[in-house]
Amino acid sequence: MKLWGGRFKTEESKLMEDFNTSLPFDRRLYKQDIVGSIAHVNMLSKCNILTGEEAGKIEEGLKSILEDIESGKLSVEGDYEDIHSFMEVNLIKRIGELGKKLHTSRSRNDQVAVDMRMFAKEEAIEIANELGLLLETIKKLADENRVIMPGYTHLQRAQVVTFKHHMMAYYSMFSRDKKRVENAIDILDESPLGCCALAGTTYDIDRNVTSDALGFKKPVDNFMDGVSDRDYLLELCSCFSIIMMHMSRLSEELIIWSSQEFKFVDMSDAFSTGSSIMPQKKNPDAAELIRGKTGRVYGSLMSLLTTLKGLPLAYNKDMQEDKEQFFDSLDTVMACIKVMNGMLSTIKVNEGNMRKAVKHGFLNATEVADYLVNKGVAFRDAHGIVGQIVIYCEDKGCGIEDLSLEEFQKFDDSFGDDIYGFIDYDNVLEKGIKKYL
Ligand code: ARG
Repeated sequence: MKLWGGRFKTEESKLMEDFNTSLPFDRRLYKQDIVGSIAHVNMLSKCNILTGEEAGKIEEGLKSILEDIESGKLSVEGDYEDIHSFMEVNLIKRIGELGKKLHTSRSRNDQVAVDMRMFAKEEAIEIANELGLLLETIKKLADENRVIMPGYTHLQRAQVVTFKHHMMAYYSMFSRDKKRVENAIDILDESPLGCCALAGTTYDIDRNVTSDALGFKKPVDNFMDGVSDRDYLLELCSCFSIIMMHMSRLSEELIIWSSQEFKFVDMSDAFSTGSSIMPQKKNPDAAELIRGKTGRVYGSLMSLLTTLKGLPLAYNKDMQEDKEQFFDSLDTVMACIKVMNGMLSTIKVNEGNMRKAVKHGFLNATEVADYLVNKGVAFRDAHGIVGQIVIYCEDKGCGIEDLSLEEFQKFDDSFGDDIYGFIDYDNVLEKGIKKYL
């Protein structure tokens, strides 16, 4: 079953065979491998390297393999070195000697490169679509909850914001992520088929034909780069890492908000789990798992970067290591986006608790200072005066808005009756954030 047995005198060791095989994971590329091969033989016939009849028979054979794999009649397994060997051996089994012509003017180096690019492109489009759905959910949740809440810096109550504004921060992050993925797709959209092993081929082939047939923008410019470029996988793994980083931040907030101490949101039962010992518990496992899996996606990026570091041109077997890392990173981010979407579409926002937190957080202290500035006090002085007011209110156990005018005037005589309207939370919001909503 070896494609390269000719120059070997003895059998490959079983240990080496098991070590070398990529079929257990590159079986995932079966469809791209078949589609790429069909484009290849049709190009060969257009360029009079195979006859139309030969190409037609090979195409039929490949299509019958595809059908049988998809119907479960043929399983992609066995003692094959990789998915490419599996296909060629099975084609020869089906259509006989003619199958041996499939690999004319092609190497597994450009074959695996084109398979992987097609796969990465299709899956990246899926990721961009899933991000689109997540964006819709976030927008809906935000629009339905234009409610007041404390905004934080250093996880200390800072200024008043709305839940909508808070969620729309994530909308901006995931919109950038979607653009980043689309940009990566745009850059990878070139066909390496026809680069052959590293130096092109003496056959008079037409790389534009396969590039067009496979839906790429154009063939790659350089053969040696074409077979050894894995930048697009790095770039996608890096996009996935940034998506995970954003999702881990949102997960962390959901975990904090759903704690008994905050109670800003209730997670739906559908995305929570219980404790085997403590009957009262409802744990935010979905958010915790997304936060946790972020490390794993970063790991794939680091692993792939390290694998590629210092590799000489052109193809080296090290590159086979790209697949498991990319697949794992892709599967993880895909699942996490879907779970995040499910979690956010079923979450309940507790407006009352957020309002209470606003009230007890001196979240209008900055506006009291702004008020004094409007009355002619320099900002730095106003900042100091309001600091004193906060200490006074803390001792008294009240909010700034609960002070009488006489109390205000003890701190500065420019305070007037209009202070109450100026620092009212809803008015503050109206003047600040709401005008951007
Ligand atoms: N399984 C290999 C990979 O994934 C396919 C390319 C093998 N090419 C070779 N010359 N050995 O990289």
